[in-house]
Amino acid sequence: MGFLEDMQGTLDRGMTAARGAVSTVAGEQLGFVRGFGRMCQDGWELGYHERNGGNASYRLCDSDLASVQSFFYDTPSSWVPLGVTVPEMAGEYLLVTGSGKFLRNVQSNPVESAGIIEISAQGDAWRIVWGLKGGGRPTSEVGAHVAAHGVRKGVTGGKARVLYHAHPNALIALTSLVPADARTLTRLLWSSVTESVIAFPGGVGMLAWMVPGSSDLAQATARVMRDFEACVWQLHGVFASGEDFDGAFGLVNAIDKAADVYLRARAAQGGAANLPYSISDADLRATALAYDLPLNEDFL
Ligand code: 13P
Ligand code: ZN
Repeated sequence: MGFLEDMQGTLDRGMTAARGAVSTVAGEQLGFVRGFGRMCQDGWELGYHERNGGNASYRLCDSDLASVQSFFYDTPSSWVPLGVTVPEMAGEYLLVTGSGKFLRNVQSNPVESAGIIEISAQGDAWRIVWGLKGGGRPTSEVGAHVAAHGVRKGVTGGKARVLYHAHPNALIALTSLVPADARTLTRLLWSSVTESVIAFPGGVGMLAWMVPGSSDLAQATARVMRDFEACVWQLHGVFASGEDFDGAFGLVNAIDKAADVYLRARAAQGGAANLPYSISDADLRATALAYDLPLNEDFL
């Protein structure tokens, strides 16, 4: 038996006694669990989540915790190292999708496809307190989720609660045509669709290809998300933050739409990179002025 299977066996055995049909059914009815399911469903319907592609997490607030705590397992799983240490996340609870779980099943079956994890007092390990029924474990990107939550929590004064990782087609395709450079990518997205600068006036961050689920990717993503609400992963997808489900989902949707429009326009003129018409820096500045946007001037 391999290390992971062994560990999974330990998790299952640790939680068996505590699993009750009554508690898991009731937990599924809570508002934040339903909102989480809807976000995953919306992403599935837009083609963002082939197979088990993508994952998501939600940082519970005090009232969420109060509403769900009575449904927690009597005996949580054992602690499992995160691979990163995030002191800002000590003692927090996250609703997360499970590794290998299909996001199309989260809405209909949250208790198997997702679960709530508690972060240790040192911010360096997780344990399952609810859900992930049947031997599940948190997403392989759990390190990136916890590290990025730590950063976004800090830079937004605690407002940011959602992280959403998706695999949108157009955006992934675009990253095979442009360098892994935040300014270059942001300018293409801003200049292709008028609403882009309104949706992400700070621009989007970008990382060159890295091994999925790795601690290096988790740490690099958290660094990028100190400055940006979203981080594009080259030839992989996007990792986006928001105060709520609509915010995180809408950001991914807006980024992918701009990528799609750019690619369509480029293809329609035979593939050449320079499009005859696009939104100028002066237009971007005028929009920022009209809508009082915190425009990232470094990208003009
Ligand atoms: P998980 O199934 O472990 O969440 O992995 C999916 C994914 O998109 C990894 O980047
Ligand atoms: Zn992925």
